[in-house]
Amino acid sequence: MPRHLPEPFRIKSVEPIRLTTAAERQAIMEAGGNNMFNVPADKVYIDLLTDSGTGAMSDNQWAGLQIGDESYAGCRNWFHFEKTVRDLTGLKHIIPTHQGRVAENLLFGAVVHDKIVINNNHFDTTRANVLAHGGEPLDMVIDEGRDPSSLYPFKGNINLARLQKALSEKGPDKIALVMLTLTNNSGGGQPVSMENIRSAHKITAQYGIPLFFDACRFAENAYFIKLREPGYADQPVRDIVREMFSYADGCTMSAKKDGLVNIGGFLALNDSALAERVKVELIRKEGFFTYGGLAGRDLEAIARGLHEVLNDDYLAYRIGQVKFLGDLLFENDVPLLLPPGGHAIYLDATRFAPHIPVDQFPGQSIAVNLYLQSGIRSTEIGSFMFYQRDKETGRLLKSSMELVRLAIPRRVYTESHLRYVAESVIELYQKRDELRGLRIVANGESPLRHFIARLEFV
Ligand code: F0G
Repeated sequence: MPRHLPEPFRIKSVEPIRLTTAAERQAIMEAGGNNMFNVPADKVYIDLLTDSGTGAMSDNQWAGLQIGDESYAGCRNWFHFEKTVRDLTGLKHIIPTHQGRVAENLLFGAVVHDKIVINNNHFDTTRANVLAHGGEPLDMVIDEGRDPSSLYPFKGNINLARLQKALSEKGPDKIALVMLTLTNNSGGGQPVSMENIRSAHKITAQYGIPLFFDACRFAENAYFIKLREPGYADQPVRDIVREMFSYADGCTMSAKKDGLVNIGGFLALNDSALAERVKVELIRKEGFFTYGGLAGRDLEAIARGLHEVLNDDYLAYRIGQVKFLGDLLFENDVPLLLPPGGHAIYLDATRFAPHIPVDQFPGQSIAVNLYLQSGIRSTEIGSFMFYQRDKETGRLLKSSMELVRLAIPRRVYTESHLRYVAESVIELYQKRDELRGLRIVANGESPLRHFIARLEFV
């Protein structure tokens, strides 16, 4: 038996991709203000902008679309969806939304007011939603989680000593909730250990503050626990997931990641009074609480995706594929955040382009140049994306790391696509001295500026 196993699927439907010319790409970058979100997708060869909503559904999920029941209230797919999420999480109230950020918005609208939300690391929309509700997002990932070269196996863990201190000093009057982002996207797709989740639960329960998961990549997190945490090697992933959620009071979820679908999400929680308040808002903003902004067929695809994502062969392939790309880059001395994350490889821009100062966004320069050179789209996760001013001084805060994320869509690209990506990044790294920094020339004052700002090379 060969040691290396190929992708655990065969391809039934294909979508052509085309490599543009260097001149075309130059024109696109100039027209789009060097912002990767302004590139038309058909002008991208390999699209690693995000793993969100970009995955390929299975034949079983496509078949599920055909039995979509589009009744306004109580469609049959809703009952399948609700049961699936409840079985998976053990949480009482399941509230469908059309994507993860709506779940955040509904939750924060109900509980944040002007309070603090503590997270290992807030992701961009999560941070923006806390700020939009007058709250203060605080990041408390462990020190290893801010060090790109640390090989600590659970770099997504929250700093329990800092958490305990904040909760004891401020208490429930000042802190709305504690969140754990699984896996920690802004921190490199790094997992949180069961031991850390359990301890965070103990501390939050002691102070009567709810613990929520930002659960987008819960299955990848569970698989890392199986691989790395003593005592879990022989446990089915489903059981690991159940134990993880047994410590949570609720979760927000973007099904566009580990739901293996192109659209969908949910909020799930145990607090019945809170659930009733949120459902009223849901009806006002998204739709009735048995569809929440989705079609019946979408609910069916999510329910099926949530079963498929727990498959061991799938998760071994998924985590292995990301590691495969990471290993190719590591072997060629490209500086990256280690160990490889669950959904993406993150280049360490600080070491990749040390001659570019942080306020000239080294990560954005790498992303733009990787597109210009090879037609690959990636995204900066650093001081261009991170925008938050100090509450007292108004000073612009800095991101703790300067990264470029190569996010791998689920079940979309093969090993040979990833080889092309690795060769392209290695080629760019060899020319790194030629990279120049960028400055923002428009739309730079917003927590979501990375979606709308325009930049030019200095
Ligand atoms: N939380 C995390 C950790 C995320 O990564 C995302 C989305 C969201 C919440 C919001 O979910 O997109 O369904 O509204 N992340 C995508 C990304 C966009 O590229 O990482 P959504």
